[in-house]
Amino acid sequence: MENTNREGFGSSFAFIMAAVGSAVGLGNIWGFPYKMGSNGGFAFLLIYLILAAFVGLAVMIGEHVIGRKTGMSPIAAYRKISKKFTWLGYMAVIAPFVILCFYMVLGGMVMRYACSYLTAMIGWNTWGVETATDFYGAFRINGVQMVLWTVIFIAINTAIVCGGVGGGIEKFCNVGMPCLFVILIIVIVYVAVQPGAVGGYQFMFGLNIDPLKEDFLKVLKTAAGQMFFSLSLGMGAMITYGSYMSKKEHLQRNAVIVVVMDTLAAIMAGMIVMPACYAFLEGNTRGGPGLLFDSMQAVFYNMGGFIGDLMGFLFYFLVFIAAISSSMSLLEAITATKIDSDIAKGKAPKRRITALVFSIIILIFCLPTALDGIGMGTANGAALPTPAELFGLDWAEAEGIKGFDKDTTYYTLGEDGAYTAVEKGTAFDESTTYYLNTTKTWNDCWLDFYDVISEGIIMPVGAMIMAFAIGWIWKIDMVKEEIEASGTKMWGKTFFNICYKVITPLGMIVVLYGQLSEFFGI
Ligand code: PHE
Repeated sequence: MENTNREGFGSSFAFIMAAVGSAVGLGNIWGFPYKMGSNGGFAFLLIYLILAAFVGLAVMIGEHVIGRKTGMSPIAAYRKISKKFTWLGYMAVIAPFVILCFYMVLGGMVMRYACSYLTAMIGWNTWGVETATDFYGAFRINGVQMVLWTVIFIAINTAIVCGGVGGGIEKFCNVGMPCLFVILIIVIVYVAVQPGAVGGYQFMFGLNIDPLKEDFLKVLKTAAGQMFFSLSLGMGAMITYGSYMSKKEHLQRNAVIVVVMDTLAAIMAGMIVMPACYAFLEGNTRGGPGLLFDSMQAVFYNMGGFIGDLMGFLFYFLVFIAAISSSMSLLEAITATKIDSDIAKGKAPKRRITALVFSIIILIFCLPTALDGIGMGTANGAALPTPAELFGLDWAEAEGIKGFDKDTTYYTLGEDGAYTAVEKGTAFDESTTYYLNTTKTWNDCWLDFYDVISEGIIMPVGAMIMAFAIGWIWKIDMVKEEIEASGTKMWGKTFFNICYKVITPLGMIVVLYGQLSEFFGI
C-alpha cells in the first residue's frame, strides 16, 4: 500500500548519503579508535570486519526491508507487519530518544572545540584557559557552557528535521558526507607524513592476533557492541530511513554500501587517531573515552602553531558533521513516528511543531548529562551529582576491615585521585584506607546511565528479536520479496537465511552479554 502523504529521498545518492550519515558518527570517530586502541589493534579490526559481514549486514537489510515494505516509521511498521510485535516498534522509538539524551550533549561539546580552533587560527584565543590542553577539565564542569552548546546543537538538529526529509536531511547529507570524507583524507595525509606516525599503522594493520589468544571474549564483545552502535542498528533510524527509500531502489546493494562506507569511515578515523597518538603522544593509544576531548586536544597542541589549529579545526568539524548527521536520524525516527500516527488518525501532520516539542523534551533530559561534569560530580565542582553520588553507589571505604578477604579486590586512592588495585598477596596495612569499587559504568555519569538503557539493553534486545522474527516467523521470503520489488534479484538467500535464523541472534546474545558485563560487571 503506497502512502501518498509521506515524503521520500529524491535519489539513490541521497538515500545512501543520509544512511551513511546516520551510521558514521561519534561511534566511528571516537568509539572505534579508542576501543581498537585498548583491544589490541589489528585483532579487534579483524573481529569487527567478520561481525559486520555476518551480523551487521543482515540486520541492516532487515531494517531497510521493514521500513520500505511498510513505508512507515518503527511503531507503525511493526504493527503493520504483525500486531504482536508492535512493542518492538516502541523499543525502537524509546531507544533513539534515550541515546539523544547524551548524544546531543557530546555534539555540542564537539562544536565548541571546532569553534575555538577556528578562532585560534586567526589568533583569537577563545579557550578561556591558558593552554588548550587544560580546556577539557574546565569545560566539562562549566554547566552554563555545557548547556549552552547543547542547546545550539539541538537547535541545528531541530532546524534540519523541520526542513523535512527532502528539504533538510537530504540537503545536509548530500553536501556534508562528501565533505566529511574529503576532510578525513586531508587529515589522514597530514598525519601520515609526521615522524613516528608509522607506529600507528603497525598497531592497526600489523598482523598480530595475540590479543585474541589472551582474551578472545573481551575483544569479541567489544567489537560486537561497537559494530552494532556504529551501524545505527536496533534504533529505528534505519527503519525510518528505509521507509523513505523508493521502491525502485536496489535495497540490498544500498545496505552493502552503507555497511562498507561506515566501516571505511571507522578505519579512516583510526588512521588519523592512531598514527597521531604515535607521532604526538609517544604511542599512547589508550586514552579511553577521553581520547576525543583530551588526547586529541593534546595531539593538536603538540602539533603546534597555525597548522595545529587548522588540523584541530578540520578534525572537530569533521566530528561535528558526523555527529549531527547521526543525531538528526534519531530525531527523525521519533518525529516520523508522531507524523505517521497523525496521518493514521486522519489528522494533518505537523512536522515542525512535532520536531520542536520533541527537541525541547530531549533538551530537558540532556540537562543531567550536561551538568554532572561528565562524571566529575559535585565532589569535583560540577553542578549536578552523578548517579553514583545520588544513589550512594560510589567507591566505598572499606571501613572496619581487619584484613583482606581473598576473593575481594581492594583499591588504594592515589594523590592524583586515581584508584589502584592492591596486588594479591600484599600485606594488610592498618594505616592505609582501602576502597571497594562498587561503581559500575552505568552509574559513574548520566551519560553512561542513558547509554546503558539504550545501547546496553534496548538496542541489542530489539535487534535480536527482529532477526529471530525474520528468520523463524516472517521468513526470509519477506526479505526476498521486498528486495526483488525493485526488479533486482536477491543474492545470498541461503547465507542470509542462516544469518537471520542462527548467526545474527547468537551474535546479538554476545552483544547483550558484552553490554551487561561492561555496564554491570556481570
Ligand atoms: N551510528 C552512530 C554513531 O556511530 C550512532 C547512532 C546509533 C545513530 C543509532 C543512529 C542510530 O555514532
